[in-house]
Order: sequence, then C-alpha cells, then structure tokens
Amino acid sequence: MHSYSPIGETDLAFFREVCGTENVFTAREELGTYAHDETEGLVFYPEVALRPQNTEQISAILKHCNARRIPVTPRGAGTGLSGGALPVLGGVLLSTEKLNRILHIDTQNLQVTTEPGVITQVLQETVAAQGLFYPPDPSSRGSCFIGGNIAENAGGPRAVKYGVTKDYVLSLEVVLPSGEIIRTGASTLKNSTGYNLTQLFVGSEGTLGIVTKIQLRLLPYPKHNLCMLVSFMDAAKACEAVSAIFRAGLIPSALEFMEKDAIDWTLRFRPEINVQVAPEVQGHLLIEMDGTDPDYIQKQCEELYEVLQAFEYHDILFAQSEAEKEALWKLRRSVAEAVKSNSMYKEEDTVVPRYALPRLLQGVKDIGRKYGFTSVCYGHAGDGNLHVNIIKGDLDDAFWNSELKKGIRELFELTVSLGGTLSGEHGIGWVQKEYMDIAFSPLEIDIQKNIKKLFDPHAILNPGKMFV
Ligand code: LAC
Ligand code: ZN
Repeated sequence: MHSYSPIGETDLAFFREVCGTENVFTAREELGTYAHDETEGLVFYPEVALRPQNTEQISAILKHCNARRIPVTPRGAGTGLSGGALPVLGGVLLSTEKLNRILHIDTQNLQVTTEPGVITQVLQETVAAQGLFYPPDPSSRGSCFIGGNIAENAGGPRAVKYGVTKDYVLSLEVVLPSGEIIRTGASTLKNSTGYNLTQLFVGSEGTLGIVTKIQLRLLPYPKHNLCMLVSFMDAAKACEAVSAIFRAGLIPSALEFMEKDAIDWTLRFRPEINVQVAPEVQGHLLIEMDGTDPDYIQKQCEELYEVLQAFEYHDILFAQSEAEKEALWKLRRSVAEAVKSNSMYKEEDTVVPRYALPRLLQGVKDIGRKYGFTSVCYGHAGDGNLHVNIIKGDLDDAFWNSELKKGIRELFELTVSLGGTLSGEHGIGWVQKEYMDIAFSPLEIDIQKNIKKLFDPHAILNPGKMFV
C-alpha cells in the first residue's frame, strides 16, 4: 500500500502561485461539483480542486504532488459512468476545463489538434463546418470533453461503422505523474515505429498520465442518412436480426437496441418526443444508414427490409424528415437519463461478439430471475454492447449493497464465457474493478499493474482505479 500526505497550507500556496488564486478551490460548497460524476450514488470530496490553464501548470502540479505524495485525480466534464474521475482518496482534483481550445484544423490532411477540455459536440460541429467528420458520439457528447473520451476510449452509436475514440487518435501530448512531458505517436495515418504508447494512454482512465494535447484524424462528412425505428414483438428476435444484417453485407452507421421499458420510460420522461409505440412491442432496433449517395442508401435500406422480414418485425417507423430523425435520436440519447430518473440503478456495460447478443440478453434476464432483480437493457447492438441497468425499485438496501454483487459477478462470468468482456465503452474506474479477475488471469493483471508502476511508481495519479 502507498501512503499519501494530506494537503497543507504550503501546498495550497504553491497551487495558488501556479494556477492563480481564482483557480484553486477549497470551500466545501465550491467542491461539490467536483465530488461526483454521472455514476449513480457516489460522492467523494477532494481536498482541493485546481483549474490549470496549460501543460506547464499541469506539469508543475504533478511534479509537486509526486514529490509530496499527494493523490491527483484528473477530471474532464464529469460525465463518466464508472467513477473514473472521482477523488476517492481526497487530495487534488485536477480539472481540465480551462484547456478548452481547438488549436488547429488541418483541412489538407483531415486532422484536428485540440486541448482536452473541448466539448465533444463542439469539436464535431467546428470540424463539420469545414466539411469534416469526427464520428465518435457518446450520448453525453453535448457535455462530455474529448479528453474524457480519450481517457475512457468512449464509443457511441456510430462506433459500429466508424469505430471508437481510439481509432481516431494519432498522437498525444501527455504529462506524466513525474511532471515530465512526452509526445506519443506522429501526425501520420500509419505508424510502425516503436511501442504504441498512444493506444496505451487511450482508455487508461487517467491512471498513467494527463493528456494535454490531442491530434485526431478526421473523415469527409457523409452528407446523407436514413433512419428508422423497427419494432419487434419479441426482444430476442430484435437481437438475432443484428448479426444477420452484417452477414447480408450491410454496415449501418448505427444499430441500437432498446427493450420495451427503455423506450416506454424514455417516452414518459420526455413527453415532448412524438414517437408512437404499440404497447405489445417488446424490443426496438434504431437503424441508421449513411453515405454520400442517397440512391445507394435507399437501395441498402431495401435490402435491410428483406433481412428484417426473417425476424418477424412488427412495424418500421421510417423517419420522413430531419425533425423525425432528431426525435428518434433524442429518444435514444435520453434513455440513460430516463432510467436514472425512474429508480436507483446500477449500470453494467457488457460487451460480447455481436452474434452472442441474444444469449447475453437471455442470460441477463435468467440471472435477474435467479437473484430477484429486474433490468432495463439497451445499447449498441451492432457492437454487441449491451447497457444492463439493474433497477433497485423496492429491493432492500442490504441486498442492493452485498448480495447483488454475486448476481453481477455471474453476469460478467457469462459475458466473458460468451467471448466478451466487462466494459465496452464506460471503463472500469471505481465501480467495476472488483470484477477484473473475471476478465484477466493473475499474470495478465500483474503485467498491467507493472505498467502502472513504470509510469507512476508512487501511485499518485488517479489512485484506487481499475485494479483492487
Ligand atoms: C448510452 C450511454 C449510457 O449509450 O453509453 O446512452
Ligand atoms: Zn452507450
């Protein structure tokens, strides 16, 4: 175990000198926003929150904290769903919110260089104004930061065609726990030079370094898309249709699953969304096809209808206008909030090879029956990524806080036995770390812990995360 120092007046004076007094917060009422993320029910206060404005300030803070053995928890916008940005040991909360400039859009090479505190949707809209496309689109894109997306290797609906955050990162500037500054990768699309440190940092959940500059590759913007909501009387059939769509040679730009409660709760939560859903329907697929040629997309949709017929779909609601497309996407993007507003819940981010999706869904329900919990499932079906929301409802606290863990363990064991793993896009953070032994052998865990030791021998950076 590592031991840490509490923050004293001399440390605070140093932080004020580095960041400016107005960027150092110690009062309880100022620290509240930094004490939680979007993970249900977790609150950890830091001793101090800092808002540095540049790489050099972050370097000075880390150098100081490393020497003094003060824990530092980096934070983006705090939209995470695994507690990765929570200062579980107190110490310094280092917010990247002031590193919020898009530094350069390279329209010749289709690349963008940005600081980590830029809101993902702002980045997307800024490059779109130049005809360029940054595809990863987590549901929180209107508020999450690109730096947080790097930390968690965020995905979203479009990942099924375009890949996740990692597939766009060319190079990073990173401040190490020692305060030293490195650059990984290169400004090239190909790179076979040395170990792939860029990809080591992507998804490392702020445990190895703090990313201060990000170079991303972009695509030309696909100008056209068609979008539809397909309903099924049997949720299993909806999941079975998913892999058949790809086997037929089609690659949708989104292929999302929502079971009955996910849609019903969201329509109640957002009554302004005007989408009609028949009461007997048990599952939905939200499918989008995109590209540059509208006739080709239309033809692909016709092929899609043919595939779906074999899976006894009930109805297809085809979006006739931009407004109708927006309504369907608003519905999908609001599911997480709707679940949250309905009951306490625990969200698991299971992912399996997509052909195993029906078996995963069936297994979730079977395990729920065995342990006595209900769940609302939805997610990125095309990626085999099922968000399993276990609902507290009127389950008692004792069960919720202890016995339920056995059920969650069984759920992860099933996921891994199907060829999948614990998290597809939300990360391990604080809440999933006790299950890592299901995904990795002791040796595999040891290798990862040794990587952590190499970068952060005193374990000052985001301590308490990923590994028990
Ligand atoms: C979503 C988030 C919860 O897919 O990942 O809505
Ligand atoms: Zn998701």
